[in-house]
Amino acid sequence: MNVKGKVILLMLVVSTAVVMLLEYINRNPEVDNNSSQRGWWFLSWFKDGIHGYQEGETEERTKGELPLSDWFDPTKRPEVVTVTRWEAPVIWEDTYNTAVLESYYAKRRITVGLTVFATGRYIDHYLEEFITSANKYFMAGHKVIFYILVDDMSRIPLIELGPRRSFKVFEIKPEKRWQDISMMRMNTIAEHIVAHIQYEVDFLFCMDVDQVFQDNFGVETLGQLVAQLQAWWYKAHPKEFTYERRKQSAAYIPYGRGDFYYHAAIFGGTPSQVLNLTQTCFKGILQDKKNNIEAKWHDESHLNKYFLLNKPTKILSPEYCWDYHIGLSSDIKNVKLSWQNKAYDLVRNND
Ligand SMILES: *[C@@H]1O[C@H](CO)[C@@H](O)[C@H](O)[C@H]1NC(C)=O
Ligand SMILES: *[C@@H]1O[C@H](CO)[C@@H](O)[C@H](O)[C@H]1NC(C)=O
Ligand SMILES: *[C@@H]1O[C@H](CO)[C@@H](O)[C@H](O)[C@H]1NC(C)=O
Repeated sequence: MNVKGKVILLMLVVSTAVVMLLEYINRNPEVDNNSSQRGWWFLSWFKDGIHGYQEGETEERTKGELPLSDWFDPTKRPEVVTVTRWEAPVIWEDTYNTAVLESYYAKRRITVGLTVFATGRYIDHYLEEFITSANKYFMAGHKVIFYILVDDMSRIPLIELGPRRSFKVFEIKPEKRWQDISMMRMNTIAEHIVAHIQYEVDFLFCMDVDQVFQDNFGVETLGQLVAQLQAWWYKAHPKEFTYERRKQSAAYIPYGRGDFYYHAAIFGGTPSQVLNLTQTCFKGILQDKKNNIEAKWHDESHLNKYFLLNKPTKILSPEYCWDYHIGLSSDIKNVKLSWQNKAYDLVRNND
């Protein structure tokens, strides 16, 4: 299908979603008692849908970046790694100057996208809390578009969004195994970036749904290619990392190589960087399928391989994706996002 065809198809999908959601609201009047709020909410969604197809508008605004020394002070957290070998910042609480960053990004009038996938029982279990908390804490004060991908539109919760927030819902094909859902995600994100996201946002994050924002996840996290340290592994030696160690897999990383163990629950960057990442990971996944091998941690193994070869320009500390099951650590001064209880027996079809 050519690009035009895809755009038309997407517009159809979006308008279908509008109709379905309007029906949902009409069937459930008690869920939103404020009609002025409701009207605004759909209006803003539509406006964004139309705005989205004005191609090339956002490309200009991402050029150039604020010099690191203007806002980042690695000496503020001497007890943890704050700069990588390749001189990328690792963002910890107290290392960044919010006032400087905010005034810089406010002038640029950026838009940040956030993709989240929910299928099967993940919709009922996690989606509402994820979006509700993101509405409050994700890029507060900046324009945000949530891209919500579900396998059943009728089960989308109704969520009231704040100003400068809008969302688009897309239906995806259900997969039987959660491993396949998580691997197909790479391909779906790539397709959506090509079809529309690249024209709609300056930066894009991709996140798992089974987590909750706890505090501001702000503009200090924006960058060309952004990776998240995995909370359970940030103190471990690279020899111990659970990388894919079989040579037959495209995700193979030999012992002795590798910088960090990155978490697939959060990755981001500019649309073009995220496109390259998702396309490359998906190629690796397909190659593995052909060779009848599945990487140890599925898409996460491929993501770790990608970040080994293409170094992230910014890394987020585990404060940005903490698991309270680890307990409290003196390194963790401000949790921005935390893992949900993983009710795997309840939400996964298989293991
Ligand atoms: C809706 O709001 C009106 C007043 O604004 C109130 O009287 C009514 O009880 C509310 N309905 C529900 C279901 O909350
Ligand atoms: C409805 O929402 C609008 C906009 O957020 C607000 O100004 C107004 O006070 C709300 N009305 C009620 C009855 O909640
Ligand atoms: C895209 O990914 C490939 C495969 O890892 C890499 O060789 C290439 O440098 C990347 N391109 C960009 C622009 O990052």
